[in-house]
Order: sequence, then C-alpha cells, then structure tokens
Amino acid sequence: MGILPEDKPVKPKLEPHNFYIFGRPMAGKSYFASYFPHPLVLNTDGNASQGTAPSIQLRNIRGKDGKLTQNVMKQIDEVVLELQSQQTTFKTIIIDVIEDVCVMVEQAICIEAGVDALGDIPYGKGFSTMKSVLQRFVMDLKALPMDVIFISREIEVTDEKTGATEIKSGLKDSYYNIVTGNCDLTIRCQKLGQGKYARIVKDKRADYKPEDISDKRIKDLLSSCIGMF
Ligand SMILES: Nc1ncnc2c1ncn2[C@@H]1O[C@H](COP(=O)(O)OP(=O)(O)OP(=O)(O)O)[C@@H](O)[C@H]1O
Ligand SMILES: [Mg+2]
Repeated sequence: MGILPEDKPVKPKLEPHNFYIFGRPMAGKSYFASYFPHPLVLNTDGNASQGTAPSIQLRNIRGKDGKLTQNVMKQIDEVVLELQSQQTTFKTIIIDVIEDVCVMVEQAICIEAGVDALGDIPYGKGFSTMKSVLQRFVMDLKALPMDVIFISREIEVTDEKTGATEIKSGLKDSYYNIVTGNCDLTIRCQKLGQGKYARIVKDKRADYKPEDISDKRIKDLLSSCIGMF
C-alpha cells in the first residue's frame, strides 16, 4: 500500500466547524456563541464573567521593569498545547474578540523587540512574525477536534467620495483574510430592537443542508440564522 489515495471521486464531508461571528457591540455575539456545546471562551475584553461559559482571560502582563511577565503568545501556546494533549470535555473554543488577540500579539512582539511599532523592527520582520503567529494560532485551533468560533466587532467605513457606508469586521484586512480563510461560515449578529435579535449568514463555504450537521444543538442554532439552509 502506498500513500496515494485511490483515483476515484470521494464524497465531500460537508459540515461547518469553524465560524466567524461579527456584529456591533451588544448585538448578541457572545450570547449566541455561548449556546454552542461545551464552550471554552478565550476572552480579551474582561466581560466574560458576565457569561456562563468557562473562560480564560488572555492578556499581556508587564512587570515593574516594563518587561513581560506574562506573554499572550506563550499563553495561547500553552492553552492550545493543553487542548491538544489532554483529554478534555470542551467541544467549542470561542475567541472573543479576535482583533484584540491580534493587538495583544502585536504588543507582545513589540515589547520583546523593544520597539513601539511592528514597522520599527528591521527588514519587515515584525510584520512577518505577526502574520506567522496568527496563522499558527488559527491553524492550531482548526486542527483541534472541536468547533472554533472567532468573534469580531463590526465597524462602519464611509467612503469619503461617494458617501456610501460599508459594514465590515474590525479586523485588519490582512488578518481578516487569514482568519476567515480558515472559516466555513460567517455570521452577522444584529440587534433589531428591544429584545429582538437577528443572525444573518453572510458567507458559507458550501451549500449546507440540515442533514449535514451532526450535532442537534448546532443544527438548531444554525437554523435560527437567516440564509443558512
Ligand atoms: N437572541 C437573544 N435573545 C435574548 N437576549 C439576547 C439575545 N442576544 C443577546 N441578548 C442579550 O443582549 C445582551 C448583549 O449580548 P452580548 O453580550 O452577546 O453582545 P455582544 O455582541 O457580545 O456585545 P459586545 O461586543 O459588547 O461583547 C446580553 O445581555 C444578552 O443577554
Ligand atoms: Mg461579547
């Protein structure tokens, strides 16, 4: 037996496991994500204590000398390693919010290099380190036998010439491409009015059918999103 597969078409496995959820503040992003099975939240904004899901606070901590006593890159590595190597009952990892993780990683790279901005690190090495750290983080999470949800805040960008406003994720374009390039579904959360919330599927990797989703709870959650099935 060689390493090559048999030369015949295979039936694609259609099931989304990686989700990108964006929306304005208070639009119900964290709320929606917390209903996924057995969630673990990697939190950045300190308001995880308001939710019921167990969480880890991601942060850089600086000592008196300005050096990092806790480095967010190391912290992420340790979490991923533990998720990879230990038996765990968690079934969903939620990153709340991804742009803060990027800012913190940038900050950690800058502090370690003793500079103010990534661009101050010679030969573009700051940017390339940042990109590879993010890429590895996303791919490591994706490789876990769990669902992954990236949460992002949305921003409104107005074109000065035409006056047209565009709604987009607050994540920088180059980072957005890395993250969403590894996601199967993009969902926008919206608060419509008092007690009224909507979730709209903005992008999907495949034309999923309800029978493609093996977990009943996830199927129900996704069914509540406009444009899913
Ligand atoms: N579908 C929903 N039904 C009822 N209440 C909801 C729903 N979605 C959100 N809420 C309520 O709205 C509030 C804000 O929701 P949530 O914290 O999920 O917002 P968020 O988008 O994560 O905001 P932020 O960007 O500030 O973290 C919460 O009190 C939550 O209980
Ligand atoms: Mg939130």
